[in-house]
Amino acid sequence: MRLSLSSAITAAISLAALSSAQTLTGQYTCSAGGQYTLCQNLWGELSGVGNQTSTLISQSGNAVSWSTTWNWANNPNNVKSYANVISNTAKGVQLQNIASAPTTWNWVYETQSAGIRADVSYDIWFGKAPSGSPATTASSYEIMIWLSGLGGIQPVGSAIKTNITVAGHQWDLWSGPNANWQVFSFKTASGDITNFDVDLQEFFSYLTTNEGVAGSQYVQAIQTGTEPFTGNAVLLTESYSVAINSK
Ligand SMILES: *[C@@H]1O[C@H](CO)[C@@H](O)[C@H](O)[C@H]1NC(C)=O
Ligand SMILES: *[C@@H]1O[C@H](CO)[C@@H](O)[C@H](O)[C@H]1NC(C)=O
Repeated sequence: MRLSLSSAITAAISLAALSSAQTLTGQYTCSAGGQYTLCQNLWGELSGVGNQTSTLISQSGNAVSWSTTWNWANNPNNVKSYANVISNTAKGVQLQNIASAPTTWNWVYETQSAGIRADVSYDIWFGKAPSGSPATTASSYEIMIWLSGLGGIQPVGSAIKTNITVAGHQWDLWSGPNANWQVFSFKTASGDITNFDVDLQEFFSYLTTNEGVAGSQYVQAIQTGTEPFTGNAVLLTESYSVAINSK
């Protein structure tokens, strides 16, 4: 991984600017800087009634802490938003050139209403070009890893494998098309995983070995966040990190 002088300066400025927490309230607002950008993407808000705010609590080096508070009603099968952090550094490497992709995610629902429908998930984007924004014509694959899926919600497509073991955890693997890309979703088969500490490379090699994903595909983006459908909750990410180490 290369760190240019300009991005080192940007990191220093953003850390200085983050001495107090920043709360996002708008539909597509982001808090940029350093190794992560927090975005409150309320892309589905018109299918519901409610509100959401997201706060970047701290960011230092490869670690970030943030929270999101959401209240959503109506259309229980529609996602209302994807508040997430995106890594500004873990991207642009071909799957065949990844040595490891260590990640940790410690999270907790500080409050939750009865019967919430929401996932807590990674959203990882592969494409043929080194770079590309998530969910665009540049996207070939969307890889979700659901550490939680409450209230009977389901990933895109249908379950193609059940109770497979990847990176020491059990998953149901779902797949199906979405727009111009293919979705693979690893949905926890053993309840909430609130202290996640794995090498994402194990998911990537599962897909290249078993599901026909080409090793020449690039990781274009790694996002982590939550997709609420209905209910209200405060989701706290105490600590999150991700990196890609090239061969
Ligand atoms: C957010 O929505 C909840 C539930 O509808 C409501 O009780 C609360 O007042 C709303 N908050 C704001 C700031 O609009
Ligand atoms: C899922 O796999 C794990 C690990 O192999 C096993 O212990 C567990 O019994 C399996 N669960 C079901 C429902 O098959």
